[in-house]
Amino acid sequence: MDQFVITGGRPLQGVVQVSGAKNAALPILCASLLSSEPLHLLNVPHLRDVQTLLKILSGMGVQCDQTGNEVMLRAERIESPTASYDWVKTMRASILVLGPLLARCGYAKVSLPGGCAIGERPVDLHIKGLEAMGAVIEIVHGDMVARADRLNGAHIFMDTVTVTGTENLMMAAVLAEGTTILENAAREPEVVDLARCLRAMGAQISGDGTDLITIQGVSVLRGAKHTIMADRIEAGTLLVAGAATRGDITLQGIDAGVLESVLDKLMEANARIDLAPQQIRLTMLGENHGVSLRTSPYPAFPTDMQAQFMAMNAVARGTTVVTETIFENRFMHVQELRRMGANIEVEGNVAIIRGVSRLEGATVMATDLRASAGLVIAGLIAEGETVVDRIYHLDRGYEQMEVKLAALGANVFRRSRKGDHGTV
Ligand code: EPU
Repeated sequence: MDQFVITGGRPLQGVVQVSGAKNAALPILCASLLSSEPLHLLNVPHLRDVQTLLKILSGMGVQCDQTGNEVMLRAERIESPTASYDWVKTMRASILVLGPLLARCGYAKVSLPGGCAIGERPVDLHIKGLEAMGAVIEIVHGDMVARADRLNGAHIFMDTVTVTGTENLMMAAVLAEGTTILENAAREPEVVDLARCLRAMGAQISGDGTDLITIQGVSVLRGAKHTIMADRIEAGTLLVAGAATRGDITLQGIDAGVLESVLDKLMEANARIDLAPQQIRLTMLGENHGVSLRTSPYPAFPTDMQAQFMAMNAVARGTTVVTETIFENRFMHVQELRRMGANIEVEGNVAIIRGVSRLEGATVMATDLRASAGLVIAGLIAEGETVVDRIYHLDRGYEQMEVKLAALGANVFRRSRKGDHGTV
């Protein structure tokens, strides 16, 4: 299992390019299932989750050709519209094949995901929405077996905002008969990027980016070329690393509009932010001020940035309160941060962080993707050496994180050790 070895204490400085967004790439790769013509994608990040999804799609008969950050997908015929438990347990986002398979093939067999490290994460709203469109879905030996001759448009209200739920239903609706209205839809920029790609394929979608999305079904979609948006969570993570180390960093290739809530919190933490087109510069003005925050669906503060801010708050001035409202178990980094000297109390979904003057390097264990990012930031601040174990979690969603951090002056390297890579 690979580890990151970090010697903390260096302020990050320099310029770095943001990669393509994992959470946009995953649904958009699945959109290739909707057309028999090629889908040509640019700016696809090299990540474990992307590789996993390409294997799943290949197994269905999709021809996937990857060159650098470009992927060409040809789903001329879908031989096997199934995603087995072995894949779904490795990566929950594989459920994103359900909507497109059902729309294109009239049949799909996708393993029902279980709970995961950060929470229960049911998929009832995906199922309810597809049923409202006329699908018959049975759970057979742990698999969702879904059938529909042709899906019908429907008016669907989702009582919880769900990102992949919105994406799955949007992909099902583009080939349905008639109009689908998704109410209380997710407004995340990744949903908008998927809608952009689907429109390029000939879909008729409006309202993406608001909580009311309207989709007028068409009978067939064509091939298209699409560039995946930049990863706002990678960008946010690098900015927090810059702020926590009292650095001065510039990110390129990112639209600041998708990061407003995060940039607001960074300014509250005492950072100066300068914007130019596709560029964000962060300069820390002095000591870190702690920032309280509450996670919520977009455009509010993202749950995927909570662990990183928690690491920064651990050494900031003052006491802060972090409230997690999206997932029930997303505080697993807390115990590891405590081992580095942080003073954090957890009561239910609220963490109270009393800033300490310094963290000490230690061996800590990554438990999920964003918790790992928080521990890496803690390592960059801490005195002495921090070893972040089980870095495969980080590799699921950050492209060459150690290379980017090293380019910004961090003392970090990957120690590769042979052995079980594990999955979550
Ligand atoms: N929920 C339900 N029923 C459903 C679906 C969701 O109750 O049918 C609940 C969940 O349990 C959760 C809340 O709704 O409490 C929101 O979950 P959502 O469905 O929005 O999460 P997701 O679509 O499974 C995506 C991202 C996550 C990100 C969340 C929230 C992808 C592939 N994943 O997950 O990303 O945290 O939205 O923004 O887009 C990550 O990248 O580290 C990551 C976990």
